[in-house]
Amino acid sequence: MSRKILVTSALPYANGAIHLGHLVEYIQTDIWVRFQKMSGNECWYVCADDTHGTPIMLRAEKEGITPEQLIERVHGEHFRDFSGFLVGFDNYHSTHSPENRECANTIYSRLRAAGLIDVRTIEQYYDPVKQLFLPDRFIKGECPKCGAKDQYGDNCESCGAAYAPTDLKGPYSAISGAKPELRNSEHYFFKLSDPRCEAFLRQYTSSGVLQNEAANKMQEWLGAPGDNKLTDWDISRDAPYFGFEIPDAPGKYFYVWLDAPIGYMGSFKNLCARQGLDFDEFFKPDSQTELYHFIGKDILYFHALFWPAELQHAGFRTPTKIFAHGFLTVDGAKMSKSRGTFITAESFLNTGLNPEWLRYYFAAKLSNTMEDIDLNFEDFVARVNSDLVGKYVNIASRSAGFIAKRFNGQLAPANADLPAIKAIQEAAPRIAELYEAREFGKAVREIMALTDGANQYVDSVKPWELAKQEGKEVELHAACSNSLNLFRLLTVLLKPILPVVAGKVEQFMNIAPLAWADARTLLAGGHAINAYEHLMTRVDPKLIEKLVEANKESLAPAAEAPKQAESQQRHAQHQQNEVKAESPWEPFCNIDDFMKVDLRIARIANAEHVDGADKLVRLTLDLGNDETRNVFAGIKAAYDPAQLIGRLTVMVANLAPRKMKFGLSEGMVLAASDTTGQTPGIFLLSPDSGAQPGMRVK
Ligand code: MSP
Ligand code: ZN
Repeated sequence: MSRKILVTSALPYANGAIHLGHLVEYIQTDIWVRFQKMSGNECWYVCADDTHGTPIMLRAEKEGITPEQLIERVHGEHFRDFSGFLVGFDNYHSTHSPENRECANTIYSRLRAAGLIDVRTIEQYYDPVKQLFLPDRFIKGECPKCGAKDQYGDNCESCGAAYAPTDLKGPYSAISGAKPELRNSEHYFFKLSDPRCEAFLRQYTSSGVLQNEAANKMQEWLGAPGDNKLTDWDISRDAPYFGFEIPDAPGKYFYVWLDAPIGYMGSFKNLCARQGLDFDEFFKPDSQTELYHFIGKDILYFHALFWPAELQHAGFRTPTKIFAHGFLTVDGAKMSKSRGTFITAESFLNTGLNPEWLRYYFAAKLSNTMEDIDLNFEDFVARVNSDLVGKYVNIASRSAGFIAKRFNGQLAPANADLPAIKAIQEAAPRIAELYEAREFGKAVREIMALTDGANQYVDSVKPWELAKQEGKEVELHAACSNSLNLFRLLTVLLKPILPVVAGKVEQFMNIAPLAWADARTLLAGGHAINAYEHLMTRVDPKLIEKLVEANKESLAPAAEAPKQAESQQRHAQHQQNEVKAESPWEPFCNIDDFMKVDLRIARIANAEHVDGADKLVRLTLDLGNDETRNVFAGIKAAYDPAQLIGRLTVMVANLAPRKMKFGLSEGMVLAASDTTGQTPGIFLLSPDSGAQPGMRVK
């Protein structure tokens, strides 16, 4: 029976560009959705821009445009970027929409009617110059714990302490620099501490809707039974604020995180109107449909606590499952603007990189856990080139030409008993389960093992040799037809990840769009294919260099307003994942890393030219205790070998020996140079007098 499924990805903030970190989530969701659709399920994928809040209001002001103009422009940019990466939303809407306002008002008024909204006066910092209440992240001052200057109002980046903005010493507004005043204001609260919410959330979060890791985290946040840790949630903000005004409270606006998840409903409602779908069928309390939210682990609190509690008590269904994923790192470190690894989606496409390379790479790395995933560029190039181009595409390119040239484009019947074919057909249901379980990495490994099997078949029948022999037409025809059938089956399995390649395959093989069930069938004898078109090129590593260059911010990160100031509401644990201004010295090496390098004083016992090398000098280094090392140093441009003999320097004594054209190099001497190229020259290090060969440097 076909399932009815509604799927969402988190709604990206409308004040920044889509980057590769975001794409982990949208690509993951898209692959899952494409798999569901291919499997014959009714599956709708909706998303929207998250458009409200102070940062968006201030950013628009800075650009001299209205918030509406800003969010409209960004909506276009986001939609363009997602389309570029083949993320196939059924609707990409906005939280600043009539549908969303309607849904937000409904939820709010039902919660109010249920007695779950409280109005209380709170004291908050106010910027008297800018004339607005300051979100925690727009207040800065001295950390009350460690005294570090210019720390945000919610936590200290220097010592990690969490505190209230009123704890800061010498607070100032990050917008105007003014000294903030404490002012009273009425705020609206969702009573999460209410026993009804607590009881519901205890049951809900332990009912299997969350991954184990996430469920455990929720238990921490909920506190032990009898020790309710939930506190009421402040859902209002004072004017001026870019958002929805609360219906019965003039001058008060819904806090952005209130109407953001409701944006899932708003976007779906908009889709329902266009597609003639029944909104209530998907959102009524006893709905038989399924609802899944894909999110990053940083916003779990909002999706696993606030959102289900709102839905439950406003008379709607709750999510079937919440799928949280980890964060993207690039080459083992947090994405960094100064290193050029904070890579925008736009720059990736503009550099000429193929989006399906990234889709494949992410798929190969993804699992259903909350673990972070690393984009390692060397691995990226190697995997795409070897798996996709070397293994998969290669099967078609080695067989298609012969079918066209020698057999009038027509296939012979495939051999249904061929082990490689049977292996794929038997594996397909297992791979379907892996897709369903979001174990894409495991699915990719299985598919690549099957691809190896298909290549072994091609290698064993050698169509290119059969083609040269006379009287081997039948064998050649069978070999190429089997290969192309293998290729078609593998394409079914890869289609959720590689929709464009699959489309090209469908075109060249002259077949209807592949569905998952097609993995059970083979092409009939006599089926005519079209001319083979090139499916995918190799990654040129130079493109990666270009990409990193294009994303490098030459200056130290400017002291901008934080990316999303409203994030102060994120739980303290979330904040570790926030984008912080990073140091150009990152990634740091710790003392253990450093101590791995064994630096020693060495005496240059001999130095000579190396025949045929224009940069190198051969050094014989005396390390004391009768130990000498042969080292080739690239210092010829700056030093005459004769001058070097007898002087002391510093060498890396435990560098792995390296075989060079001129002999073995057994270490390295240390020298300074100006990497900006402004001061030419190479400056060999030397110790103060008294140091002896063999002494450790640390
Ligand atoms: N606007 C909120 C979500 C509201 S959902 C009702 C938000 N926006 S965001 O633009 O900061 O992030 C959107 C999604 O991308 C989130 O799920 C977030 O976890 C994810 N990612 C943002 N940076 C990421 C990485 N570096 N790595 C992986 N996912 C990341 O949060
Ligand atoms: Zn501190």
